[in-house]
Amino acid sequence: MSNVSLRHLEQMAATGAEAPAFVQNRCFARLGWDREVRSFCAERGVVYQGFSLLTANPEVLHHRLVTGIAARLGATPAQVVFRFAHAVGMLPLTGTVDAEHMKQDLAGRDLSLPADEVRAIESLAG
Ligand SMILES: NC(=O)c1ccc[n+]([C@@H]2O[C@H](COP(=O)([O-])OP(=O)(O)OC[C@H]3O[C@@H](n4cnc5c(N)ncnc54)[C@H](OP(=O)(O)O)[C@@H]3O)[C@@H](O)[C@H]2O)c1
Repeated sequence: MSNVSLRHLEQMAATGAEAPAFVQNRCFARLGWDREVRSFCAERGVVYQGFSLLTANPEVLHHRLVTGIAARLGATPAQVVFRFAHAVGMLPLTGTVDAEHMKQDLAGRDLSLPADEVRAIESLAG
C-alpha cells in the first residue's frame, strides 16, 4: 500500500482485511517522519518504506544538527538522513539516478549514529 494515513490503515484493519506487506509513504520530518504510521507498521510487522526522505525535507538537510553530525562523521547530510531512517526501523528508498550518490546512500548504513542523535533527528521538526 502506498500513500496511506493511519486512519486508512485502522479502517482497513477494522474490516479484518489482511495487513499489507509494505507501506510506502512520503516521509515528512514535520510530521515526525510519519511517526503514527511507522508505529502502526512496527506493531504489526509491516515493512515501512519511506520515500522522498531528501526532497520532502530540504530544511533537515541544512539544519545544523544534521550538518554537525555529518561533519563529525565525515559524511553527507543525505547519508545521515538515510542512516537515521534505518535506525528508526524504516526501509529507506532513494530516488537517485547518480551512481556516486547511490554508493554514498548505501555506505550510510555503516555510519555510527548514537541513540540520542537518532531521537534528536526524529523530533527535529514534528
Ligand atoms: N509510492 C509513491 O507514490 C512514490 C512517489 C514518489 C517516489 N516514490 C519512490 O520513492 C523513491 C525515492 O523518492 P524521491 O525520488 O522523491 O526521493 P529522494 O531520494 O528524496 O530524492 C531524490 C532526488 O534527490 C537528489 N539527491 C541529491 N543527493 C542525493 C543523494 N545522496 N542520494 C539520493 N538522492 C540525492 C537526486 O538527484 P541525483 O539523481 O542527482 O542523485 C534526486 O533528484 C522513488 O525512486 C520512487 O521509487 C514513490
